[in-house]
Amino acid sequence: MLIIVAALVPLLVGVASEFVVLERRDGPPPGFSSIGPTPGSEVLTLRFGLSSNNIPALHETVYDISTPGNALYGKYLSQEEINKFVAPSADTLSRVSSWLSGSNFTSVPVTPAGDWISVNMTVAQANDLLAADFSTFQDRTINATVIRTLCYAIPSNLQGHIDWVHPTVKFPVTRTRAASFVNRTSAKPPTSLASISADCRVSSSWTPACLQELYGIPSTPAKPAANVLGVSGFNNDFANKRDLKTFLQLHRPDINPNTTFDLITLDGGLNNQLPQNAGNTGDPDTQYTVGLATGVPVTYISTGTLPNDLLTEMLDQANFLLKLENPPQTILNSNSDTSIGLESVVSPAMGISLCNAYAQLAARGVSYIVQTGIWGAGGTPFGLCKPFDPPFPASCPFVTAVGGTFFDNDEPEETGAFISGGGFSTFFGRPRYQDAAVSAYLQATNNTQATAFNVSGRAVPDVSAIAQISYISDGAIIDGASATEFSADIFASIIALLTNERIVAGKPGLGFLNPLIYANPGAFNDITTGSNPGCNTPGFNATGGWDPVTGFGSPSYPKLQKLCAVL
Ligand SMILES: *[C@@H]1O[C@H](CO)[C@@H](O)[C@H](O)[C@H]1NC(C)=O
Ligand SMILES: *[C@@H]1O[C@H](CO)[C@@H](O)[C@H](O)[C@H]1NC(C)=O
Ligand SMILES: *[C@@H]1O[C@H](CO)[C@@H](O)[C@H](O)[C@H]1NC(C)=O
Ligand SMILES: *[C@@H]1O[C@H](CO)[C@@H](O)[C@H](O)[C@H]1NC(C)=O
Ligand SMILES: *[C@@H]1O[C@H](CO)[C@@H](O)[C@H](O)[C@H]1NC(C)=O
Ligand SMILES: *[C@@H]1O[C@H](CO)[C@@H](O)[C@H](O)[C@H]1NC(C)=O
Ligand SMILES: *[C@@H]1O[C@H](CO)[C@@H](O)[C@H](O)[C@H]1NC(C)=O
Ligand SMILES: *[C@@H]1O[C@H](CO)[C@@H](O)[C@H](O)[C@H]1NC(C)=O
Repeated sequence: MLIIVAALVPLLVGVASEFVVLERRDGPPPGFSSIGPTPGSEVLTLRFGLSSNNIPALHETVYDISTPGNALYGKYLSQEEINKFVAPSADTLSRVSSWLSGSNFTSVPVTPAGDWISVNMTVAQANDLLAADFSTFQDRTINATVIRTLCYAIPSNLQGHIDWVHPTVKFPVTRTRAASFVNRTSAKPPTSLASISADCRVSSSWTPACLQELYGIPSTPAKPAANVLGVSGFNNDFANKRDLKTFLQLHRPDINPNTTFDLITLDGGLNNQLPQNAGNTGDPDTQYTVGLATGVPVTYISTGTLPNDLLTEMLDQANFLLKLENPPQTILNSNSDTSIGLESVVSPAMGISLCNAYAQLAARGVSYIVQTGIWGAGGTPFGLCKPFDPPFPASCPFVTAVGGTFFDNDEPEETGAFISGGGFSTFFGRPRYQDAAVSAYLQATNNTQATAFNVSGRAVPDVSAIAQISYISDGAIIDGASATEFSADIFASIIALLTNERIVAGKPGLGFLNPLIYANPGAFNDITTGSNPGCNTPGFNATGGWDPVTGFGSPSYPKLQKLCAVL
């Protein structure tokens, strides 16, 4: 760790302590260039991530309450109980507060446990406090500016007490997705679909009725229960009610086409209903949850857009949910925006911090479901290939990561989609629930040595589902749309229905799913063909058992239903 002695930093004259650099980067990422120092009077809202006093105990507790057979299974925690693990120690709080009050700053906690705080200060003050050099950077492609510093430091007596300060060295990724849709290449009906109705066999996209047949998902409405499926909205990507109605009329003629979703918002989030603002995430996500989780109330959770900063939005969403007395039992976050989709664009300290917020949701009994992205084996869409760059937040060990499958490419069976994101984390070690399954894959493919990817990292996906659907956008049918976000929609709907059955039976919801999934691979349709090439590499192969293309495979509702009934 680089130590800067105060006397060497002209801005810190009179400060009698040593500084340690917390994070730095050599230059701005490609596309950004500095247009000079930011005026000192400009106001910044900085977040500080404070070290928690006992995160390992939080993780252990989550595993206990999520592992079937454990005496604590299903005994979810209150937020007050969780705060005991996550709150900073008294020592951390007193060091940080005397540092900030010494400069007359006031901080406000932005999390229930007080582990993240927010402080407003001018750029001049931030440059002094953090030995930083905040400058304005412009992104040429979209003509947007951001204020960032290439390096910042904290007094050495705060080392180990402050994990990160944001926004500082992490730049947003501003490029839009290169392609979100891939069309089916073969129309030949696969032989294994003999038992599926003819319409579904030949159609290129999977509708709710066909998915019900394929995975055995019930079409009868779930019984009324205190159960909610939350659908995440970010980036002004709105869910349109008229599109949903058109969709239901077309694909679910057996249910009331007026069935719709509720809305909750944070950070000034909206859900405007202008037809042209119907989003290519919000629309399919609401259509495939309302359309598949029949009878389960769906709530669209719209987070407002902060300046170029999806990571802060996801942090805010997690904390908003933690503050609710009864958060939705199932949360779908299918956001596929590239500004957070890969570990390489997130700082490790903040990635770990967001993952610990998801661990808290797990402790509250929430099933948090994300997708693994459409870049195959961790490629990037920008030509800046960094092979095996793992998808994030999918790589967090406390979420369930869903990859994609097709009936395609002349394969007789459901096959791993070539777009399906999958791989091994560089932030998070392999959690023990997947140790046996992932070791078996690595051994079977002779990939036990770290080479292009981190063999010891948390591996994704956990499961997979069909990635090719048909939805309505601005009144028009979008056919042949392919993305793992749709796989996550399908999987989340199944989990919401299973959760409903448990709640009706007087049992707790399913909570964090992975220990259950890895103990019961037989409840999934094993997918043994397909691969996920990316960034000029062949990627990984789907194999028997767990693999980094399809996880354990696609869900069988009847098998999962049997399993969940006896837990
Ligand atoms: C903090 O505020 C007090 C009272 O207004 C003032 O005397 C002091 O100089 C301020 N300190 C700093 C570091 O700005
Ligand atoms: C910082 O400024 C924002 C915007 O003016 C305000 O909403 C927020 O309450 C302030 N935070 C603190 C800690 O003063
Ligand atoms: C870029 O943005 C600035 C400030 O928002 C604006 O003045 C300028 O006209 C924009 N340039 C282009 C090429 O759009
Ligand atoms: C995929 O299909 C859509 C809808 O039929 C069409 O608009 C689009 O051009 C096709 N894309 C490719 C790459 O073939
Ligand atoms: C749906 O809502 C419309 C307008 O409120 C109403 O006229 C119609 O009867 C409703 N349809 C059903 C099936 O409830
Ligand atoms: C591999 O994962 C482990 C566990 O998270 C981590 O400590 C290590 O730094 C990673 N190695 C690389 C090369 O990313
Ligand atoms: C792995 O290595 C063993 C021993 O060298 C060999 O027999 C086997 O065929 C290899 N498997 C694969 C999938 O390459
Ligand atoms: C994937 O399968 C192909 C064809 O069987 C094989 O040539 C290749 O070595 C396999 N790749 C990996 C990473 O195991």
